[in-house]
Amino acid sequence: MKLINDYSELIENEIAGISFPNEPKNLYDPLSYFLALGGKRMRPLLTILSGELFGEKKENLMPAAIAIELFHNFSLIHDDIMDAAPLRRGKATVHEKWNSNSAILSGDVLLVKAYQLLSHYDAHKLSALFLVFNKTAIEVCEGQQLDMDFENRMEVSEQEYLTMIQLKTAVLLACALQFGAIISNASEENRKNVYDFGLHLGLAFQIQDDILDLYGDPSKVGKQVGGDVICNKKTLLSIVARSRATDTERQELDFLLNEVNIEQKVLKTRSIYDNLNVKAFCEETMKKHHELAFSAFNKIKTPNSKENIKALCNFLFFRDF
Ligand code: IPE
Ligand code: IPE
Ligand code: MG
Ligand code: MG
Ligand code: MG
Repeated sequence: MKLINDYSELIENEIAGISFPNEPKNLYDPLSYFLALGGKRMRPLLTILSGELFGEKKENLMPAAIAIELFHNFSLIHDDIMDAAPLRRGKATVHEKWNSNSAILSGDVLLVKAYQLLSHYDAHKLSALFLVFNKTAIEVCEGQQLDMDFENRMEVSEQEYLTMIQLKTAVLLACALQFGAIISNASEENRKNVYDFGLHLGLAFQIQDDILDLYGDPSKVGKQVGGDVICNKKTLLSIVARSRATDTERQELDFLLNEVNIEQKVLKTRSIYDNLNVKAFCEETMKKHHELAFSAFNKIKTPNSKENIKALCNFLFFRDF
């Protein structure tokens, strides 16, 4: 924890140092607002710890680390429009506080800022960074589209769900780790293992996010409780519930898809999930991906200590926000 706090402070200071012009206010104020809301800053941490694993200095890793965090924040501002989310990090979302058009445009600025930061690196590194970053950015869009398409489908398989969360979430964690490996000139083999490690870590991360969405403490999670249920998202919880439900329970779940009273919708859906014991199953699946992450992690060859990344993984596994 001490390590995470120290590194987070460094990252936080870098982000606090980003300044935006005063005008147009409705473009830049949302960005100062959103970046000041904090967040776990996991992705920049992954870039820095991955680079340090191969002997690189923090200062050389920082521009790429911040670029990834800005990309992540851009994706959150847009995601909150798509998910009609009122709350993020305990505060009003950008499209709620301003409006959707400002949220789209200010999100776009963050995306471009991410590219500006990456152009700090020399041509050789930049081309390797762009290769993974551009691929990742397109995959995130694909994942987000699938996530929304699934809202309107009754049957989504566990495999389809895993593909969707790999695209919308896991590839960005993998990219963050690979950034560190590229900047530190890690071998091809290490770059691949670092990436696989990130993919499984990311799958576990999104499964945990789905669990926290319904079962987390709202004062810690900072998002609307049951936001996924309200939007008819297909999560591991909902997919497993549907496969385990009796005919009567399935009819009840289907009926709840159209429930307009959102408190009732969330409470009743959660109570069916509880009867079906789906949370424990999802926690097991999350654990499985953590273990797969560690087996890729163990293949990474480096003379340097791996303890810091291990500490971060454990922190992620037990996170409640
Ligand atoms: C939220 O990411 C979006 C997902 C991919 C689950 P985080 O949980 O990392 O959000 P912050 O940055 O800490 O707020
Ligand atoms: C978000 O997934 C993934 C991206 C932002 C690309 P979610 O929609 O589950 O994230 P939260 O729960 O709003 O943070
Ligand atoms: Mg969302
Ligand atoms: Mg979403
Ligand atoms: Mg979520």
